[in-house]
Amino acid sequence: MLQDKVILITGANRGIGLATAQVCIALGATVLLAGRNEVQLELVAEQLGERAIAMCYDLTDETQVKQAFAHIKQHIGHLDGLVNNAGMMHNAPAAMTSLDSLQQQLTLNTVAAFQHIQLASRLMRKPGCGRVVNLCSIVGERGAAGQSAYAASKAALTGITKSLAKELAAQQICVNAVAPGFIDTELHSDFSDKQRENIINTVGLGRMGTPREVADLISFLLSDHAAYITGQIIGIDGGMQL
Ligand SMILES: NC(=O)c1ccc[n+]([C@@H]2O[C@H](COP(=O)([O-])OP(=O)(O)OC[C@H]3O[C@@H](n4cnc5c(N)ncnc54)[C@H](OP(=O)(O)O)[C@@H]3O)[C@@H](O)[C@H]2O)c1
Repeated sequence: MLQDKVILITGANRGIGLATAQVCIALGATVLLAGRNEVQLELVAEQLGERAIAMCYDLTDETQVKQAFAHIKQHIGHLDGLVNNAGMMHNAPAAMTSLDSLQQQLTLNTVAAFQHIQLASRLMRKPGCGRVVNLCSIVGERGAAGQSAYAASKAALTGITKSLAKELAAQQICVNAVAPGFIDTELHSDFSDKQRENIINTVGLGRMGTPREVADLISFLLSDHAAYITGQIIGIDGGMQL
């Protein structure tokens, strides 16, 4: 399904990013694993095999991102897909949220994703092959108490997704997003058992989602089966009533 495609995945060392890399490799793609943790990325690349390439750089450093894309252009020449997956979430009521925390979440979740699309779209040259998948969130769509900064960063990414789908359609590049609900990853490592239980009680299917379930949706959006889908924010939340 993704035979011979080259896909860049940010934050690919764990969670949804790692599961996406595993699924893409299984479907025949070559995967560029982007992130800041060199040791973990190299380890993951080694485990995934020869079609996985670790690329360590600071996703939020404008110059380093440009250098990473120059490297891709020089050594690979093109990209078929980009998954803007890396993300951070600081939970705190607005009154307890520093502007630095807001800035950090906006810088990674929104600004870095924007720059990655800017640069990736220039390398998506094969007609009909360009695919961008952004990791938005049910929180960005519906809001959540204690997550206003995170929600702002993801809502902005929703706007970017819808706008760039229109802008890049002329180049046959499809831009979509997935909006997960409550997925079992380290993003929620600071949640208490009681908090988890309370959230799970809002999920119609009565459980957390798995990274693999999100990865399957992302890989579909990267594939030729999704060639006529663009500008969509696709929820994957088990029927969550947030
Ligand atoms: N899990 C959920 O319920 C859920 C729900 C909705 C949306 N999402 C979104 O899905 C995406 C993946 O999340 P996940 O659940 O897989 O979370 P995760 O397990 O915490 O993984 C987050 C990834 O982002 C990277 N990252 C975090 N801060 C970074 C920074 N400052 N610079 C570079 N990389 C950074 C992490 O790398 P390091 O290992 O180097 O920290 C890691 O690879 C995120 O965008 C998240 O907002 C998740």
